[in-house]
Amino acid sequence: MGALPLELAYNLDSGEIVERLERLGKLPADTDPSPLMQLAQHPNPKVRAAAAKNLAKLENLSLLAFLVECAGREPNTMARREFVSAIGRLRHPSAIPYLITFLQDEDPKVVLQAIRGLLCFRHNAEVITHLEKLRGHPNELIRKAIGTELDDKHGSQQEKRDHVHSPEWLHNVLVNADVLDVLRHVPDESVHLTFTSPPYYNARDYTIYRSYEEYLQFLVRVFTEVHRITKEGRFFVLNTSPVLVPRMSRQHSSTRYLIPFDIHPLITKIGFDFIDDIIWVKPDPSAKNRNGGFYQHRKPLGYKANSVVEYVIVYRKHTNKLIDWNMRQYDSETVEASKVLGDYEKTNVWRIAPSADPVHPAVFPVELATRIIELYSYRGDLVFDPFAGRGTVGIAALQTGRFYFLVEKDPQYASYAKELLSEGTLFGGKSVRTMTLDEFTCISAGYAKEEG
Ligand SMILES: C[S@@+](CC[C@H](N)C(=O)[O-])C[C@H]1O[C@@H](n2cnc3c(N)ncnc32)[C@H](O)[C@@H]1O
Repeated sequence: MGALPLELAYNLDSGEIVERLERLGKLPADTDPSPLMQLAQHPNPKVRAAAAKNLAKLENLSLLAFLVECAGREPNTMARREFVSAIGRLRHPSAIPYLITFLQDEDPKVVLQAIRGLLCFRHNAEVITHLEKLRGHPNELIRKAIGTELDDKHGSQQEKRDHVHSPEWLHNVLVNADVLDVLRHVPDESVHLTFTSPPYYNARDYTIYRSYEEYLQFLVRVFTEVHRITKEGRFFVLNTSPVLVPRMSRQHSSTRYLIPFDIHPLITKIGFDFIDDIIWVKPDPSAKNRNGGFYQHRKPLGYKANSVVEYVIVYRKHTNKLIDWNMRQYDSETVEASKVLGDYEKTNVWRIAPSADPVHPAVFPVELATRIIELYSYRGDLVFDPFAGRGTVGIAALQTGRFYFLVEKDPQYASYAKELLSEGTLFGGKSVRTMTLDEFTCISAGYAKEEG
């Protein structure tokens, strides 16, 4: 081991030894392992971990017993992980029983490393039996890894066709009805993307909820249906923000509800995985001024920040398949046509001016909807908004070559949305089709009969 004579290594401080070990690069198979074996027993766990990493490169089967002994007595989890990784890299059946033992390790990182080593032997029935048992492991990352590795990763051709297509009778449809009544008649796995901004509790008078809990439970019912109608591994993007319920009088305080944070655990429980938190920043002047009082008195405790952000939280319908599987479903022409070209926002802070509308009091800007649609769907996909308002998602879908499916309860907003959508560029020669609940139910039943 010319680059790191053992005598020299022991004269160096731990930091320098680690640095040198990390710089060792490739090691020839005939490298004498003894200096590394000595360092694998160094008092400093970082040195032990770095030595284990280099021992792993040798892939020397005669080290198996030594590595097993080191891993077994190693108290530091990072170093233990490296020893287990080194055992796995031997890729030899004699390592199997030891790797199986480490599936019981208390640290999920070590278990994951043992799983990785064992996956080389996925044709071995005993290995599969042990890996299958981990489907019920308390750690979510271990369960996810097992699901991803043991379930069908590639999908069949049949899945391919179904994944790209959506029911044509939902294309460019706007239903004027309560969303829960409508969703009952929508088939499973129909939509590719949902982007929506629900009512912000009782901030506007579209709907009045008797309590915050009732409001959250209403959203859970809607989002459970959204989950059902979303295709495997596709996205659900939710725009909300905290709301303020004004105080009854000067003798009372006002109450703020942190909607995005309160709804988040309920959404993940439904079966959506959290992907990203995008902060939509609106330029200062659009924010309501909350610090007039503080500005005057300047007394601590009385500070109230002007809110200039909303949350745009990105979720993915849970699946064991990687996102590449979803991408592979499209033909090269669609992929090419859907590419997000030119400049784009690379951070999770999106500065977009808010939109004011002469008819609807709480719309999001077309630019926000366009970005979401371009980033989280492909051309020809079906994009859904259960709380459509003036139909901003529909307008953005038309502009980006996607189909839309919208639901809006308020007749005034629904007919306004119809007007705006009729002005839009029509995709695939389809004009907006507005429907009542009865019409929608009837059409849905007709298609269900045809398919059944
Ligand atoms: C925040 S606004 C959405 C505005 C929309 N993003 C836009 O840009 O026009 C919420 C909308 O949900 C509608 N809504 C409320 N409860 C509903 C329900 N149960 N079913 C369908 N729509 C509902 C309201 O009438 C309102 O237009």
